[in-house]
Amino acid sequence: MIISIANQKGGVGKSTTAINLAAGLSLEGYKVLLIDADAQANATRVFLHPEAEAPLETSLYNVIISFSPLAAAIRKTRFDNLDFVPAHIRLSSLDLELAQAFDNRSERLRRALGPVHDRYDYVIIDNPPSLGLMTINTFVASDSLLIPVSTGFFALAGLVQLQETIDMVKQNQLNRNLAILGVLCTFSERTNVSKDVEKQLREYFGDLVFETVVPKNVSLEEAHSNHTHVFEHAPNSKGARAYQALVKEVAAR
Ligand SMILES: Nc1ncnc2c1ncn2[C@@H]1O[C@H](COP(=O)(O)OP(=O)(O)OP(=O)(O)O)[C@@H](O)[C@H]1O
Ligand SMILES: [Mg+2]
Repeated sequence: MIISIANQKGGVGKSTTAINLAAGLSLEGYKVLLIDADAQANATRVFLHPEAEAPLETSLYNVIISFSPLAAAIRKTRFDNLDFVPAHIRLSSLDLELAQAFDNRSERLRRALGPVHDRYDYVIIDNPPSLGLMTINTFVASDSLLIPVSTGFFALAGLVQLQETIDMVKQNQLNRNLAILGVLCTFSERTNVSKDVEKQLREYFGDLVFETVVPKNVSLEEAHSNHTHVFEHAPNSKGARAYQALVKEVAAR
């Protein structure tokens, strides 16, 4: 099962969800590959040694640009059942670099995943906050999308554009089976705006919205700065409990 964590809106909890969903599934005994498809490399920084730079040759960049095998870019984390593929800052120029390429530039990640995805129960892909070529590649390669939506005032703007991109990928025969696995409310607070956005999301997306709601919780950010996932950093925190519940829901869907 290949799941893209996507929303072109920035700072909605994509990387936090990718990291903790991948970690949570691996703790349940599933074999998990986390792919960092964002040039910001936030997920990469959590799992890579703080001083280490992901070399270009063994990052997702080379897989997409130079067709180097994905297997060569896979690294082990210090956690059982959890491997990852680092991003590189040069991924930010992917659209430019592939502007002249006509050979299946939307299908490069899918092809790269072909020989390796059977080794894993779940492949979780962290996406950049854009709908560029990298995101199109991950949509083409994925079975489904998990869309984190931060329950703030501007949450709903942008969802139409995301839906259009999903439809475009399906209609252009790039990936007709791409489904929405679920919509995840993040940064939830006990405010009227937060409750109202959650209500609107449930009205619009119905059962696609996960029952699990991720609260605003500082342990999630602290875990990142400690180069780990929330289950190790603060297993009893609200954030850990929310992501644990999400893991159960994802495994059941
Ligand atoms: N539920 C939460 N409570 C508190 N802080 C959070 C929560 N989720 C994420 N954060 C923090 O908020 C910031 C943005 O989250 P994150 O990086 O996961 O979002 P993103 O959608 O991946 O952002 P980008 O679009 O830039 O890739 C990070 O500093 C993260 O540690
Ligand atoms: Mg991110």
